[in-house]
Amino acid sequence: MNNDEKILEIKNLKVYFDTEEGTVKALENVNLFLKRSEILGVIGETGSGKSVTAYTITRLLPQPPGRILNGKVLFNGEDLLQKSEDEMLNIRGRQISMIFQEPMTALNPVFTVQEQMTDVISHHEKISKKQAIPKAIRALELVKIPDPELVMKKYPHELSGGMRQRVMIALALSCEPELLIADEPTTALDVTVQAQILALILEMRERLGLSVILITHNFGIVAEICDSVAVMYAGNIVEFSSIFNVFENPLHPYTDGLLKAIPPLDEDVENLNVIPGVVPNLISPPSGCRFHPRCYRKLDVCEKEIPELIELSPGHFVACHNPLGGGSK
Ligand SMILES: Nc1ncnc2c1ncn2[C@@H]1O[C@H](COP(=O)(O)OP(=O)(O)OP(=O)(O)O)[C@@H](O)[C@H]1O
Ligand SMILES: [Mg+2]
Repeated sequence: MNNDEKILEIKNLKVYFDTEEGTVKALENVNLFLKRSEILGVIGETGSGKSVTAYTITRLLPQPPGRILNGKVLFNGEDLLQKSEDEMLNIRGRQISMIFQEPMTALNPVFTVQEQMTDVISHHEKISKKQAIPKAIRALELVKIPDPELVMKKYPHELSGGMRQRVMIALALSCEPELLIADEPTTALDVTVQAQILALILEMRERLGLSVILITHNFGIVAEICDSVAVMYAGNIVEFSSIFNVFENPLHPYTDGLLKAIPPLDEDVENLNVIPGVVPNLISPPSGCRFHPRCYRKLDVCEKEIPELIELSPGHFVACHNPLGGGSK
């Protein structure tokens, strides 16, 4: 594939956390890429490393306790891990925006929507806060907030959860980033609002050519709006391909288990007990393939050797010693 089609490429990323209990091996070897104007779903159970990946891309990872031991995060071909904090300040918001799991943590409770939005826009566009007001209103209109002038005067706690999430998306999109990283943007919302927010992300992709990384527990959401999907398990990408390949022809037993458990849109994968066992402790993870204690296709080699992520068929990557057949092997 032509390299400049890739807006983002993560190579061999390894991130550990130093804690009192020991070293948490949070990301062991993460590899993935995102093509321009595509929506990539990152899916996996709780603790698999989805948020740590997002925080590493945006360089918001707390260091310490976090430690980046290895890897590259190439954004438009440039390694973000080599950028200075000043350079990152410019990139965040202007080129890469992030929506966080819980909007209240990202919105400041003591400032109105107007103060927060004009603050961000004036900083990034180097205009006055007054000049930023119409731009803020336009951003709120874009995310279909009714009566944006009124909402501008509100404090975050005066808005509903769905409205707060829209404000956060408006804030994230107000500087027209190239890449949006949305970390579980709909988890806290009811199903109707969830569907509206997803429709909004799709629309932004159409209108702004936005590239999106959408982190979720929910394969139903991935099926609905993503072009490709990266399946994470205990700090590794175990499978990565187009939605079509992964749904029609899953190669990793973990992906297979998740697919057999596709829940309705309002439930989380982690609530289903289809895959036996629990996610491992990442201070002393299982040897070899970290999934082997839960795997129904386990071979002897799985306990001993770490499987590498390989391209088993064109564009279809899997890290498994005994992948499912599906005719592609
Ligand atoms: N600041 C930290 N200090 C120590 N360990 C951390 C820290 N942040 C994350 N971790 C660990 O890194 C691992 C990956 O966490 P991460 O938050 O990325 O999971 P996640 O896939 O986003 O899960 P969830 O679906 O629950 O949001 C977990 O074992 C977690 O405990
Ligand atoms: Mg998370």
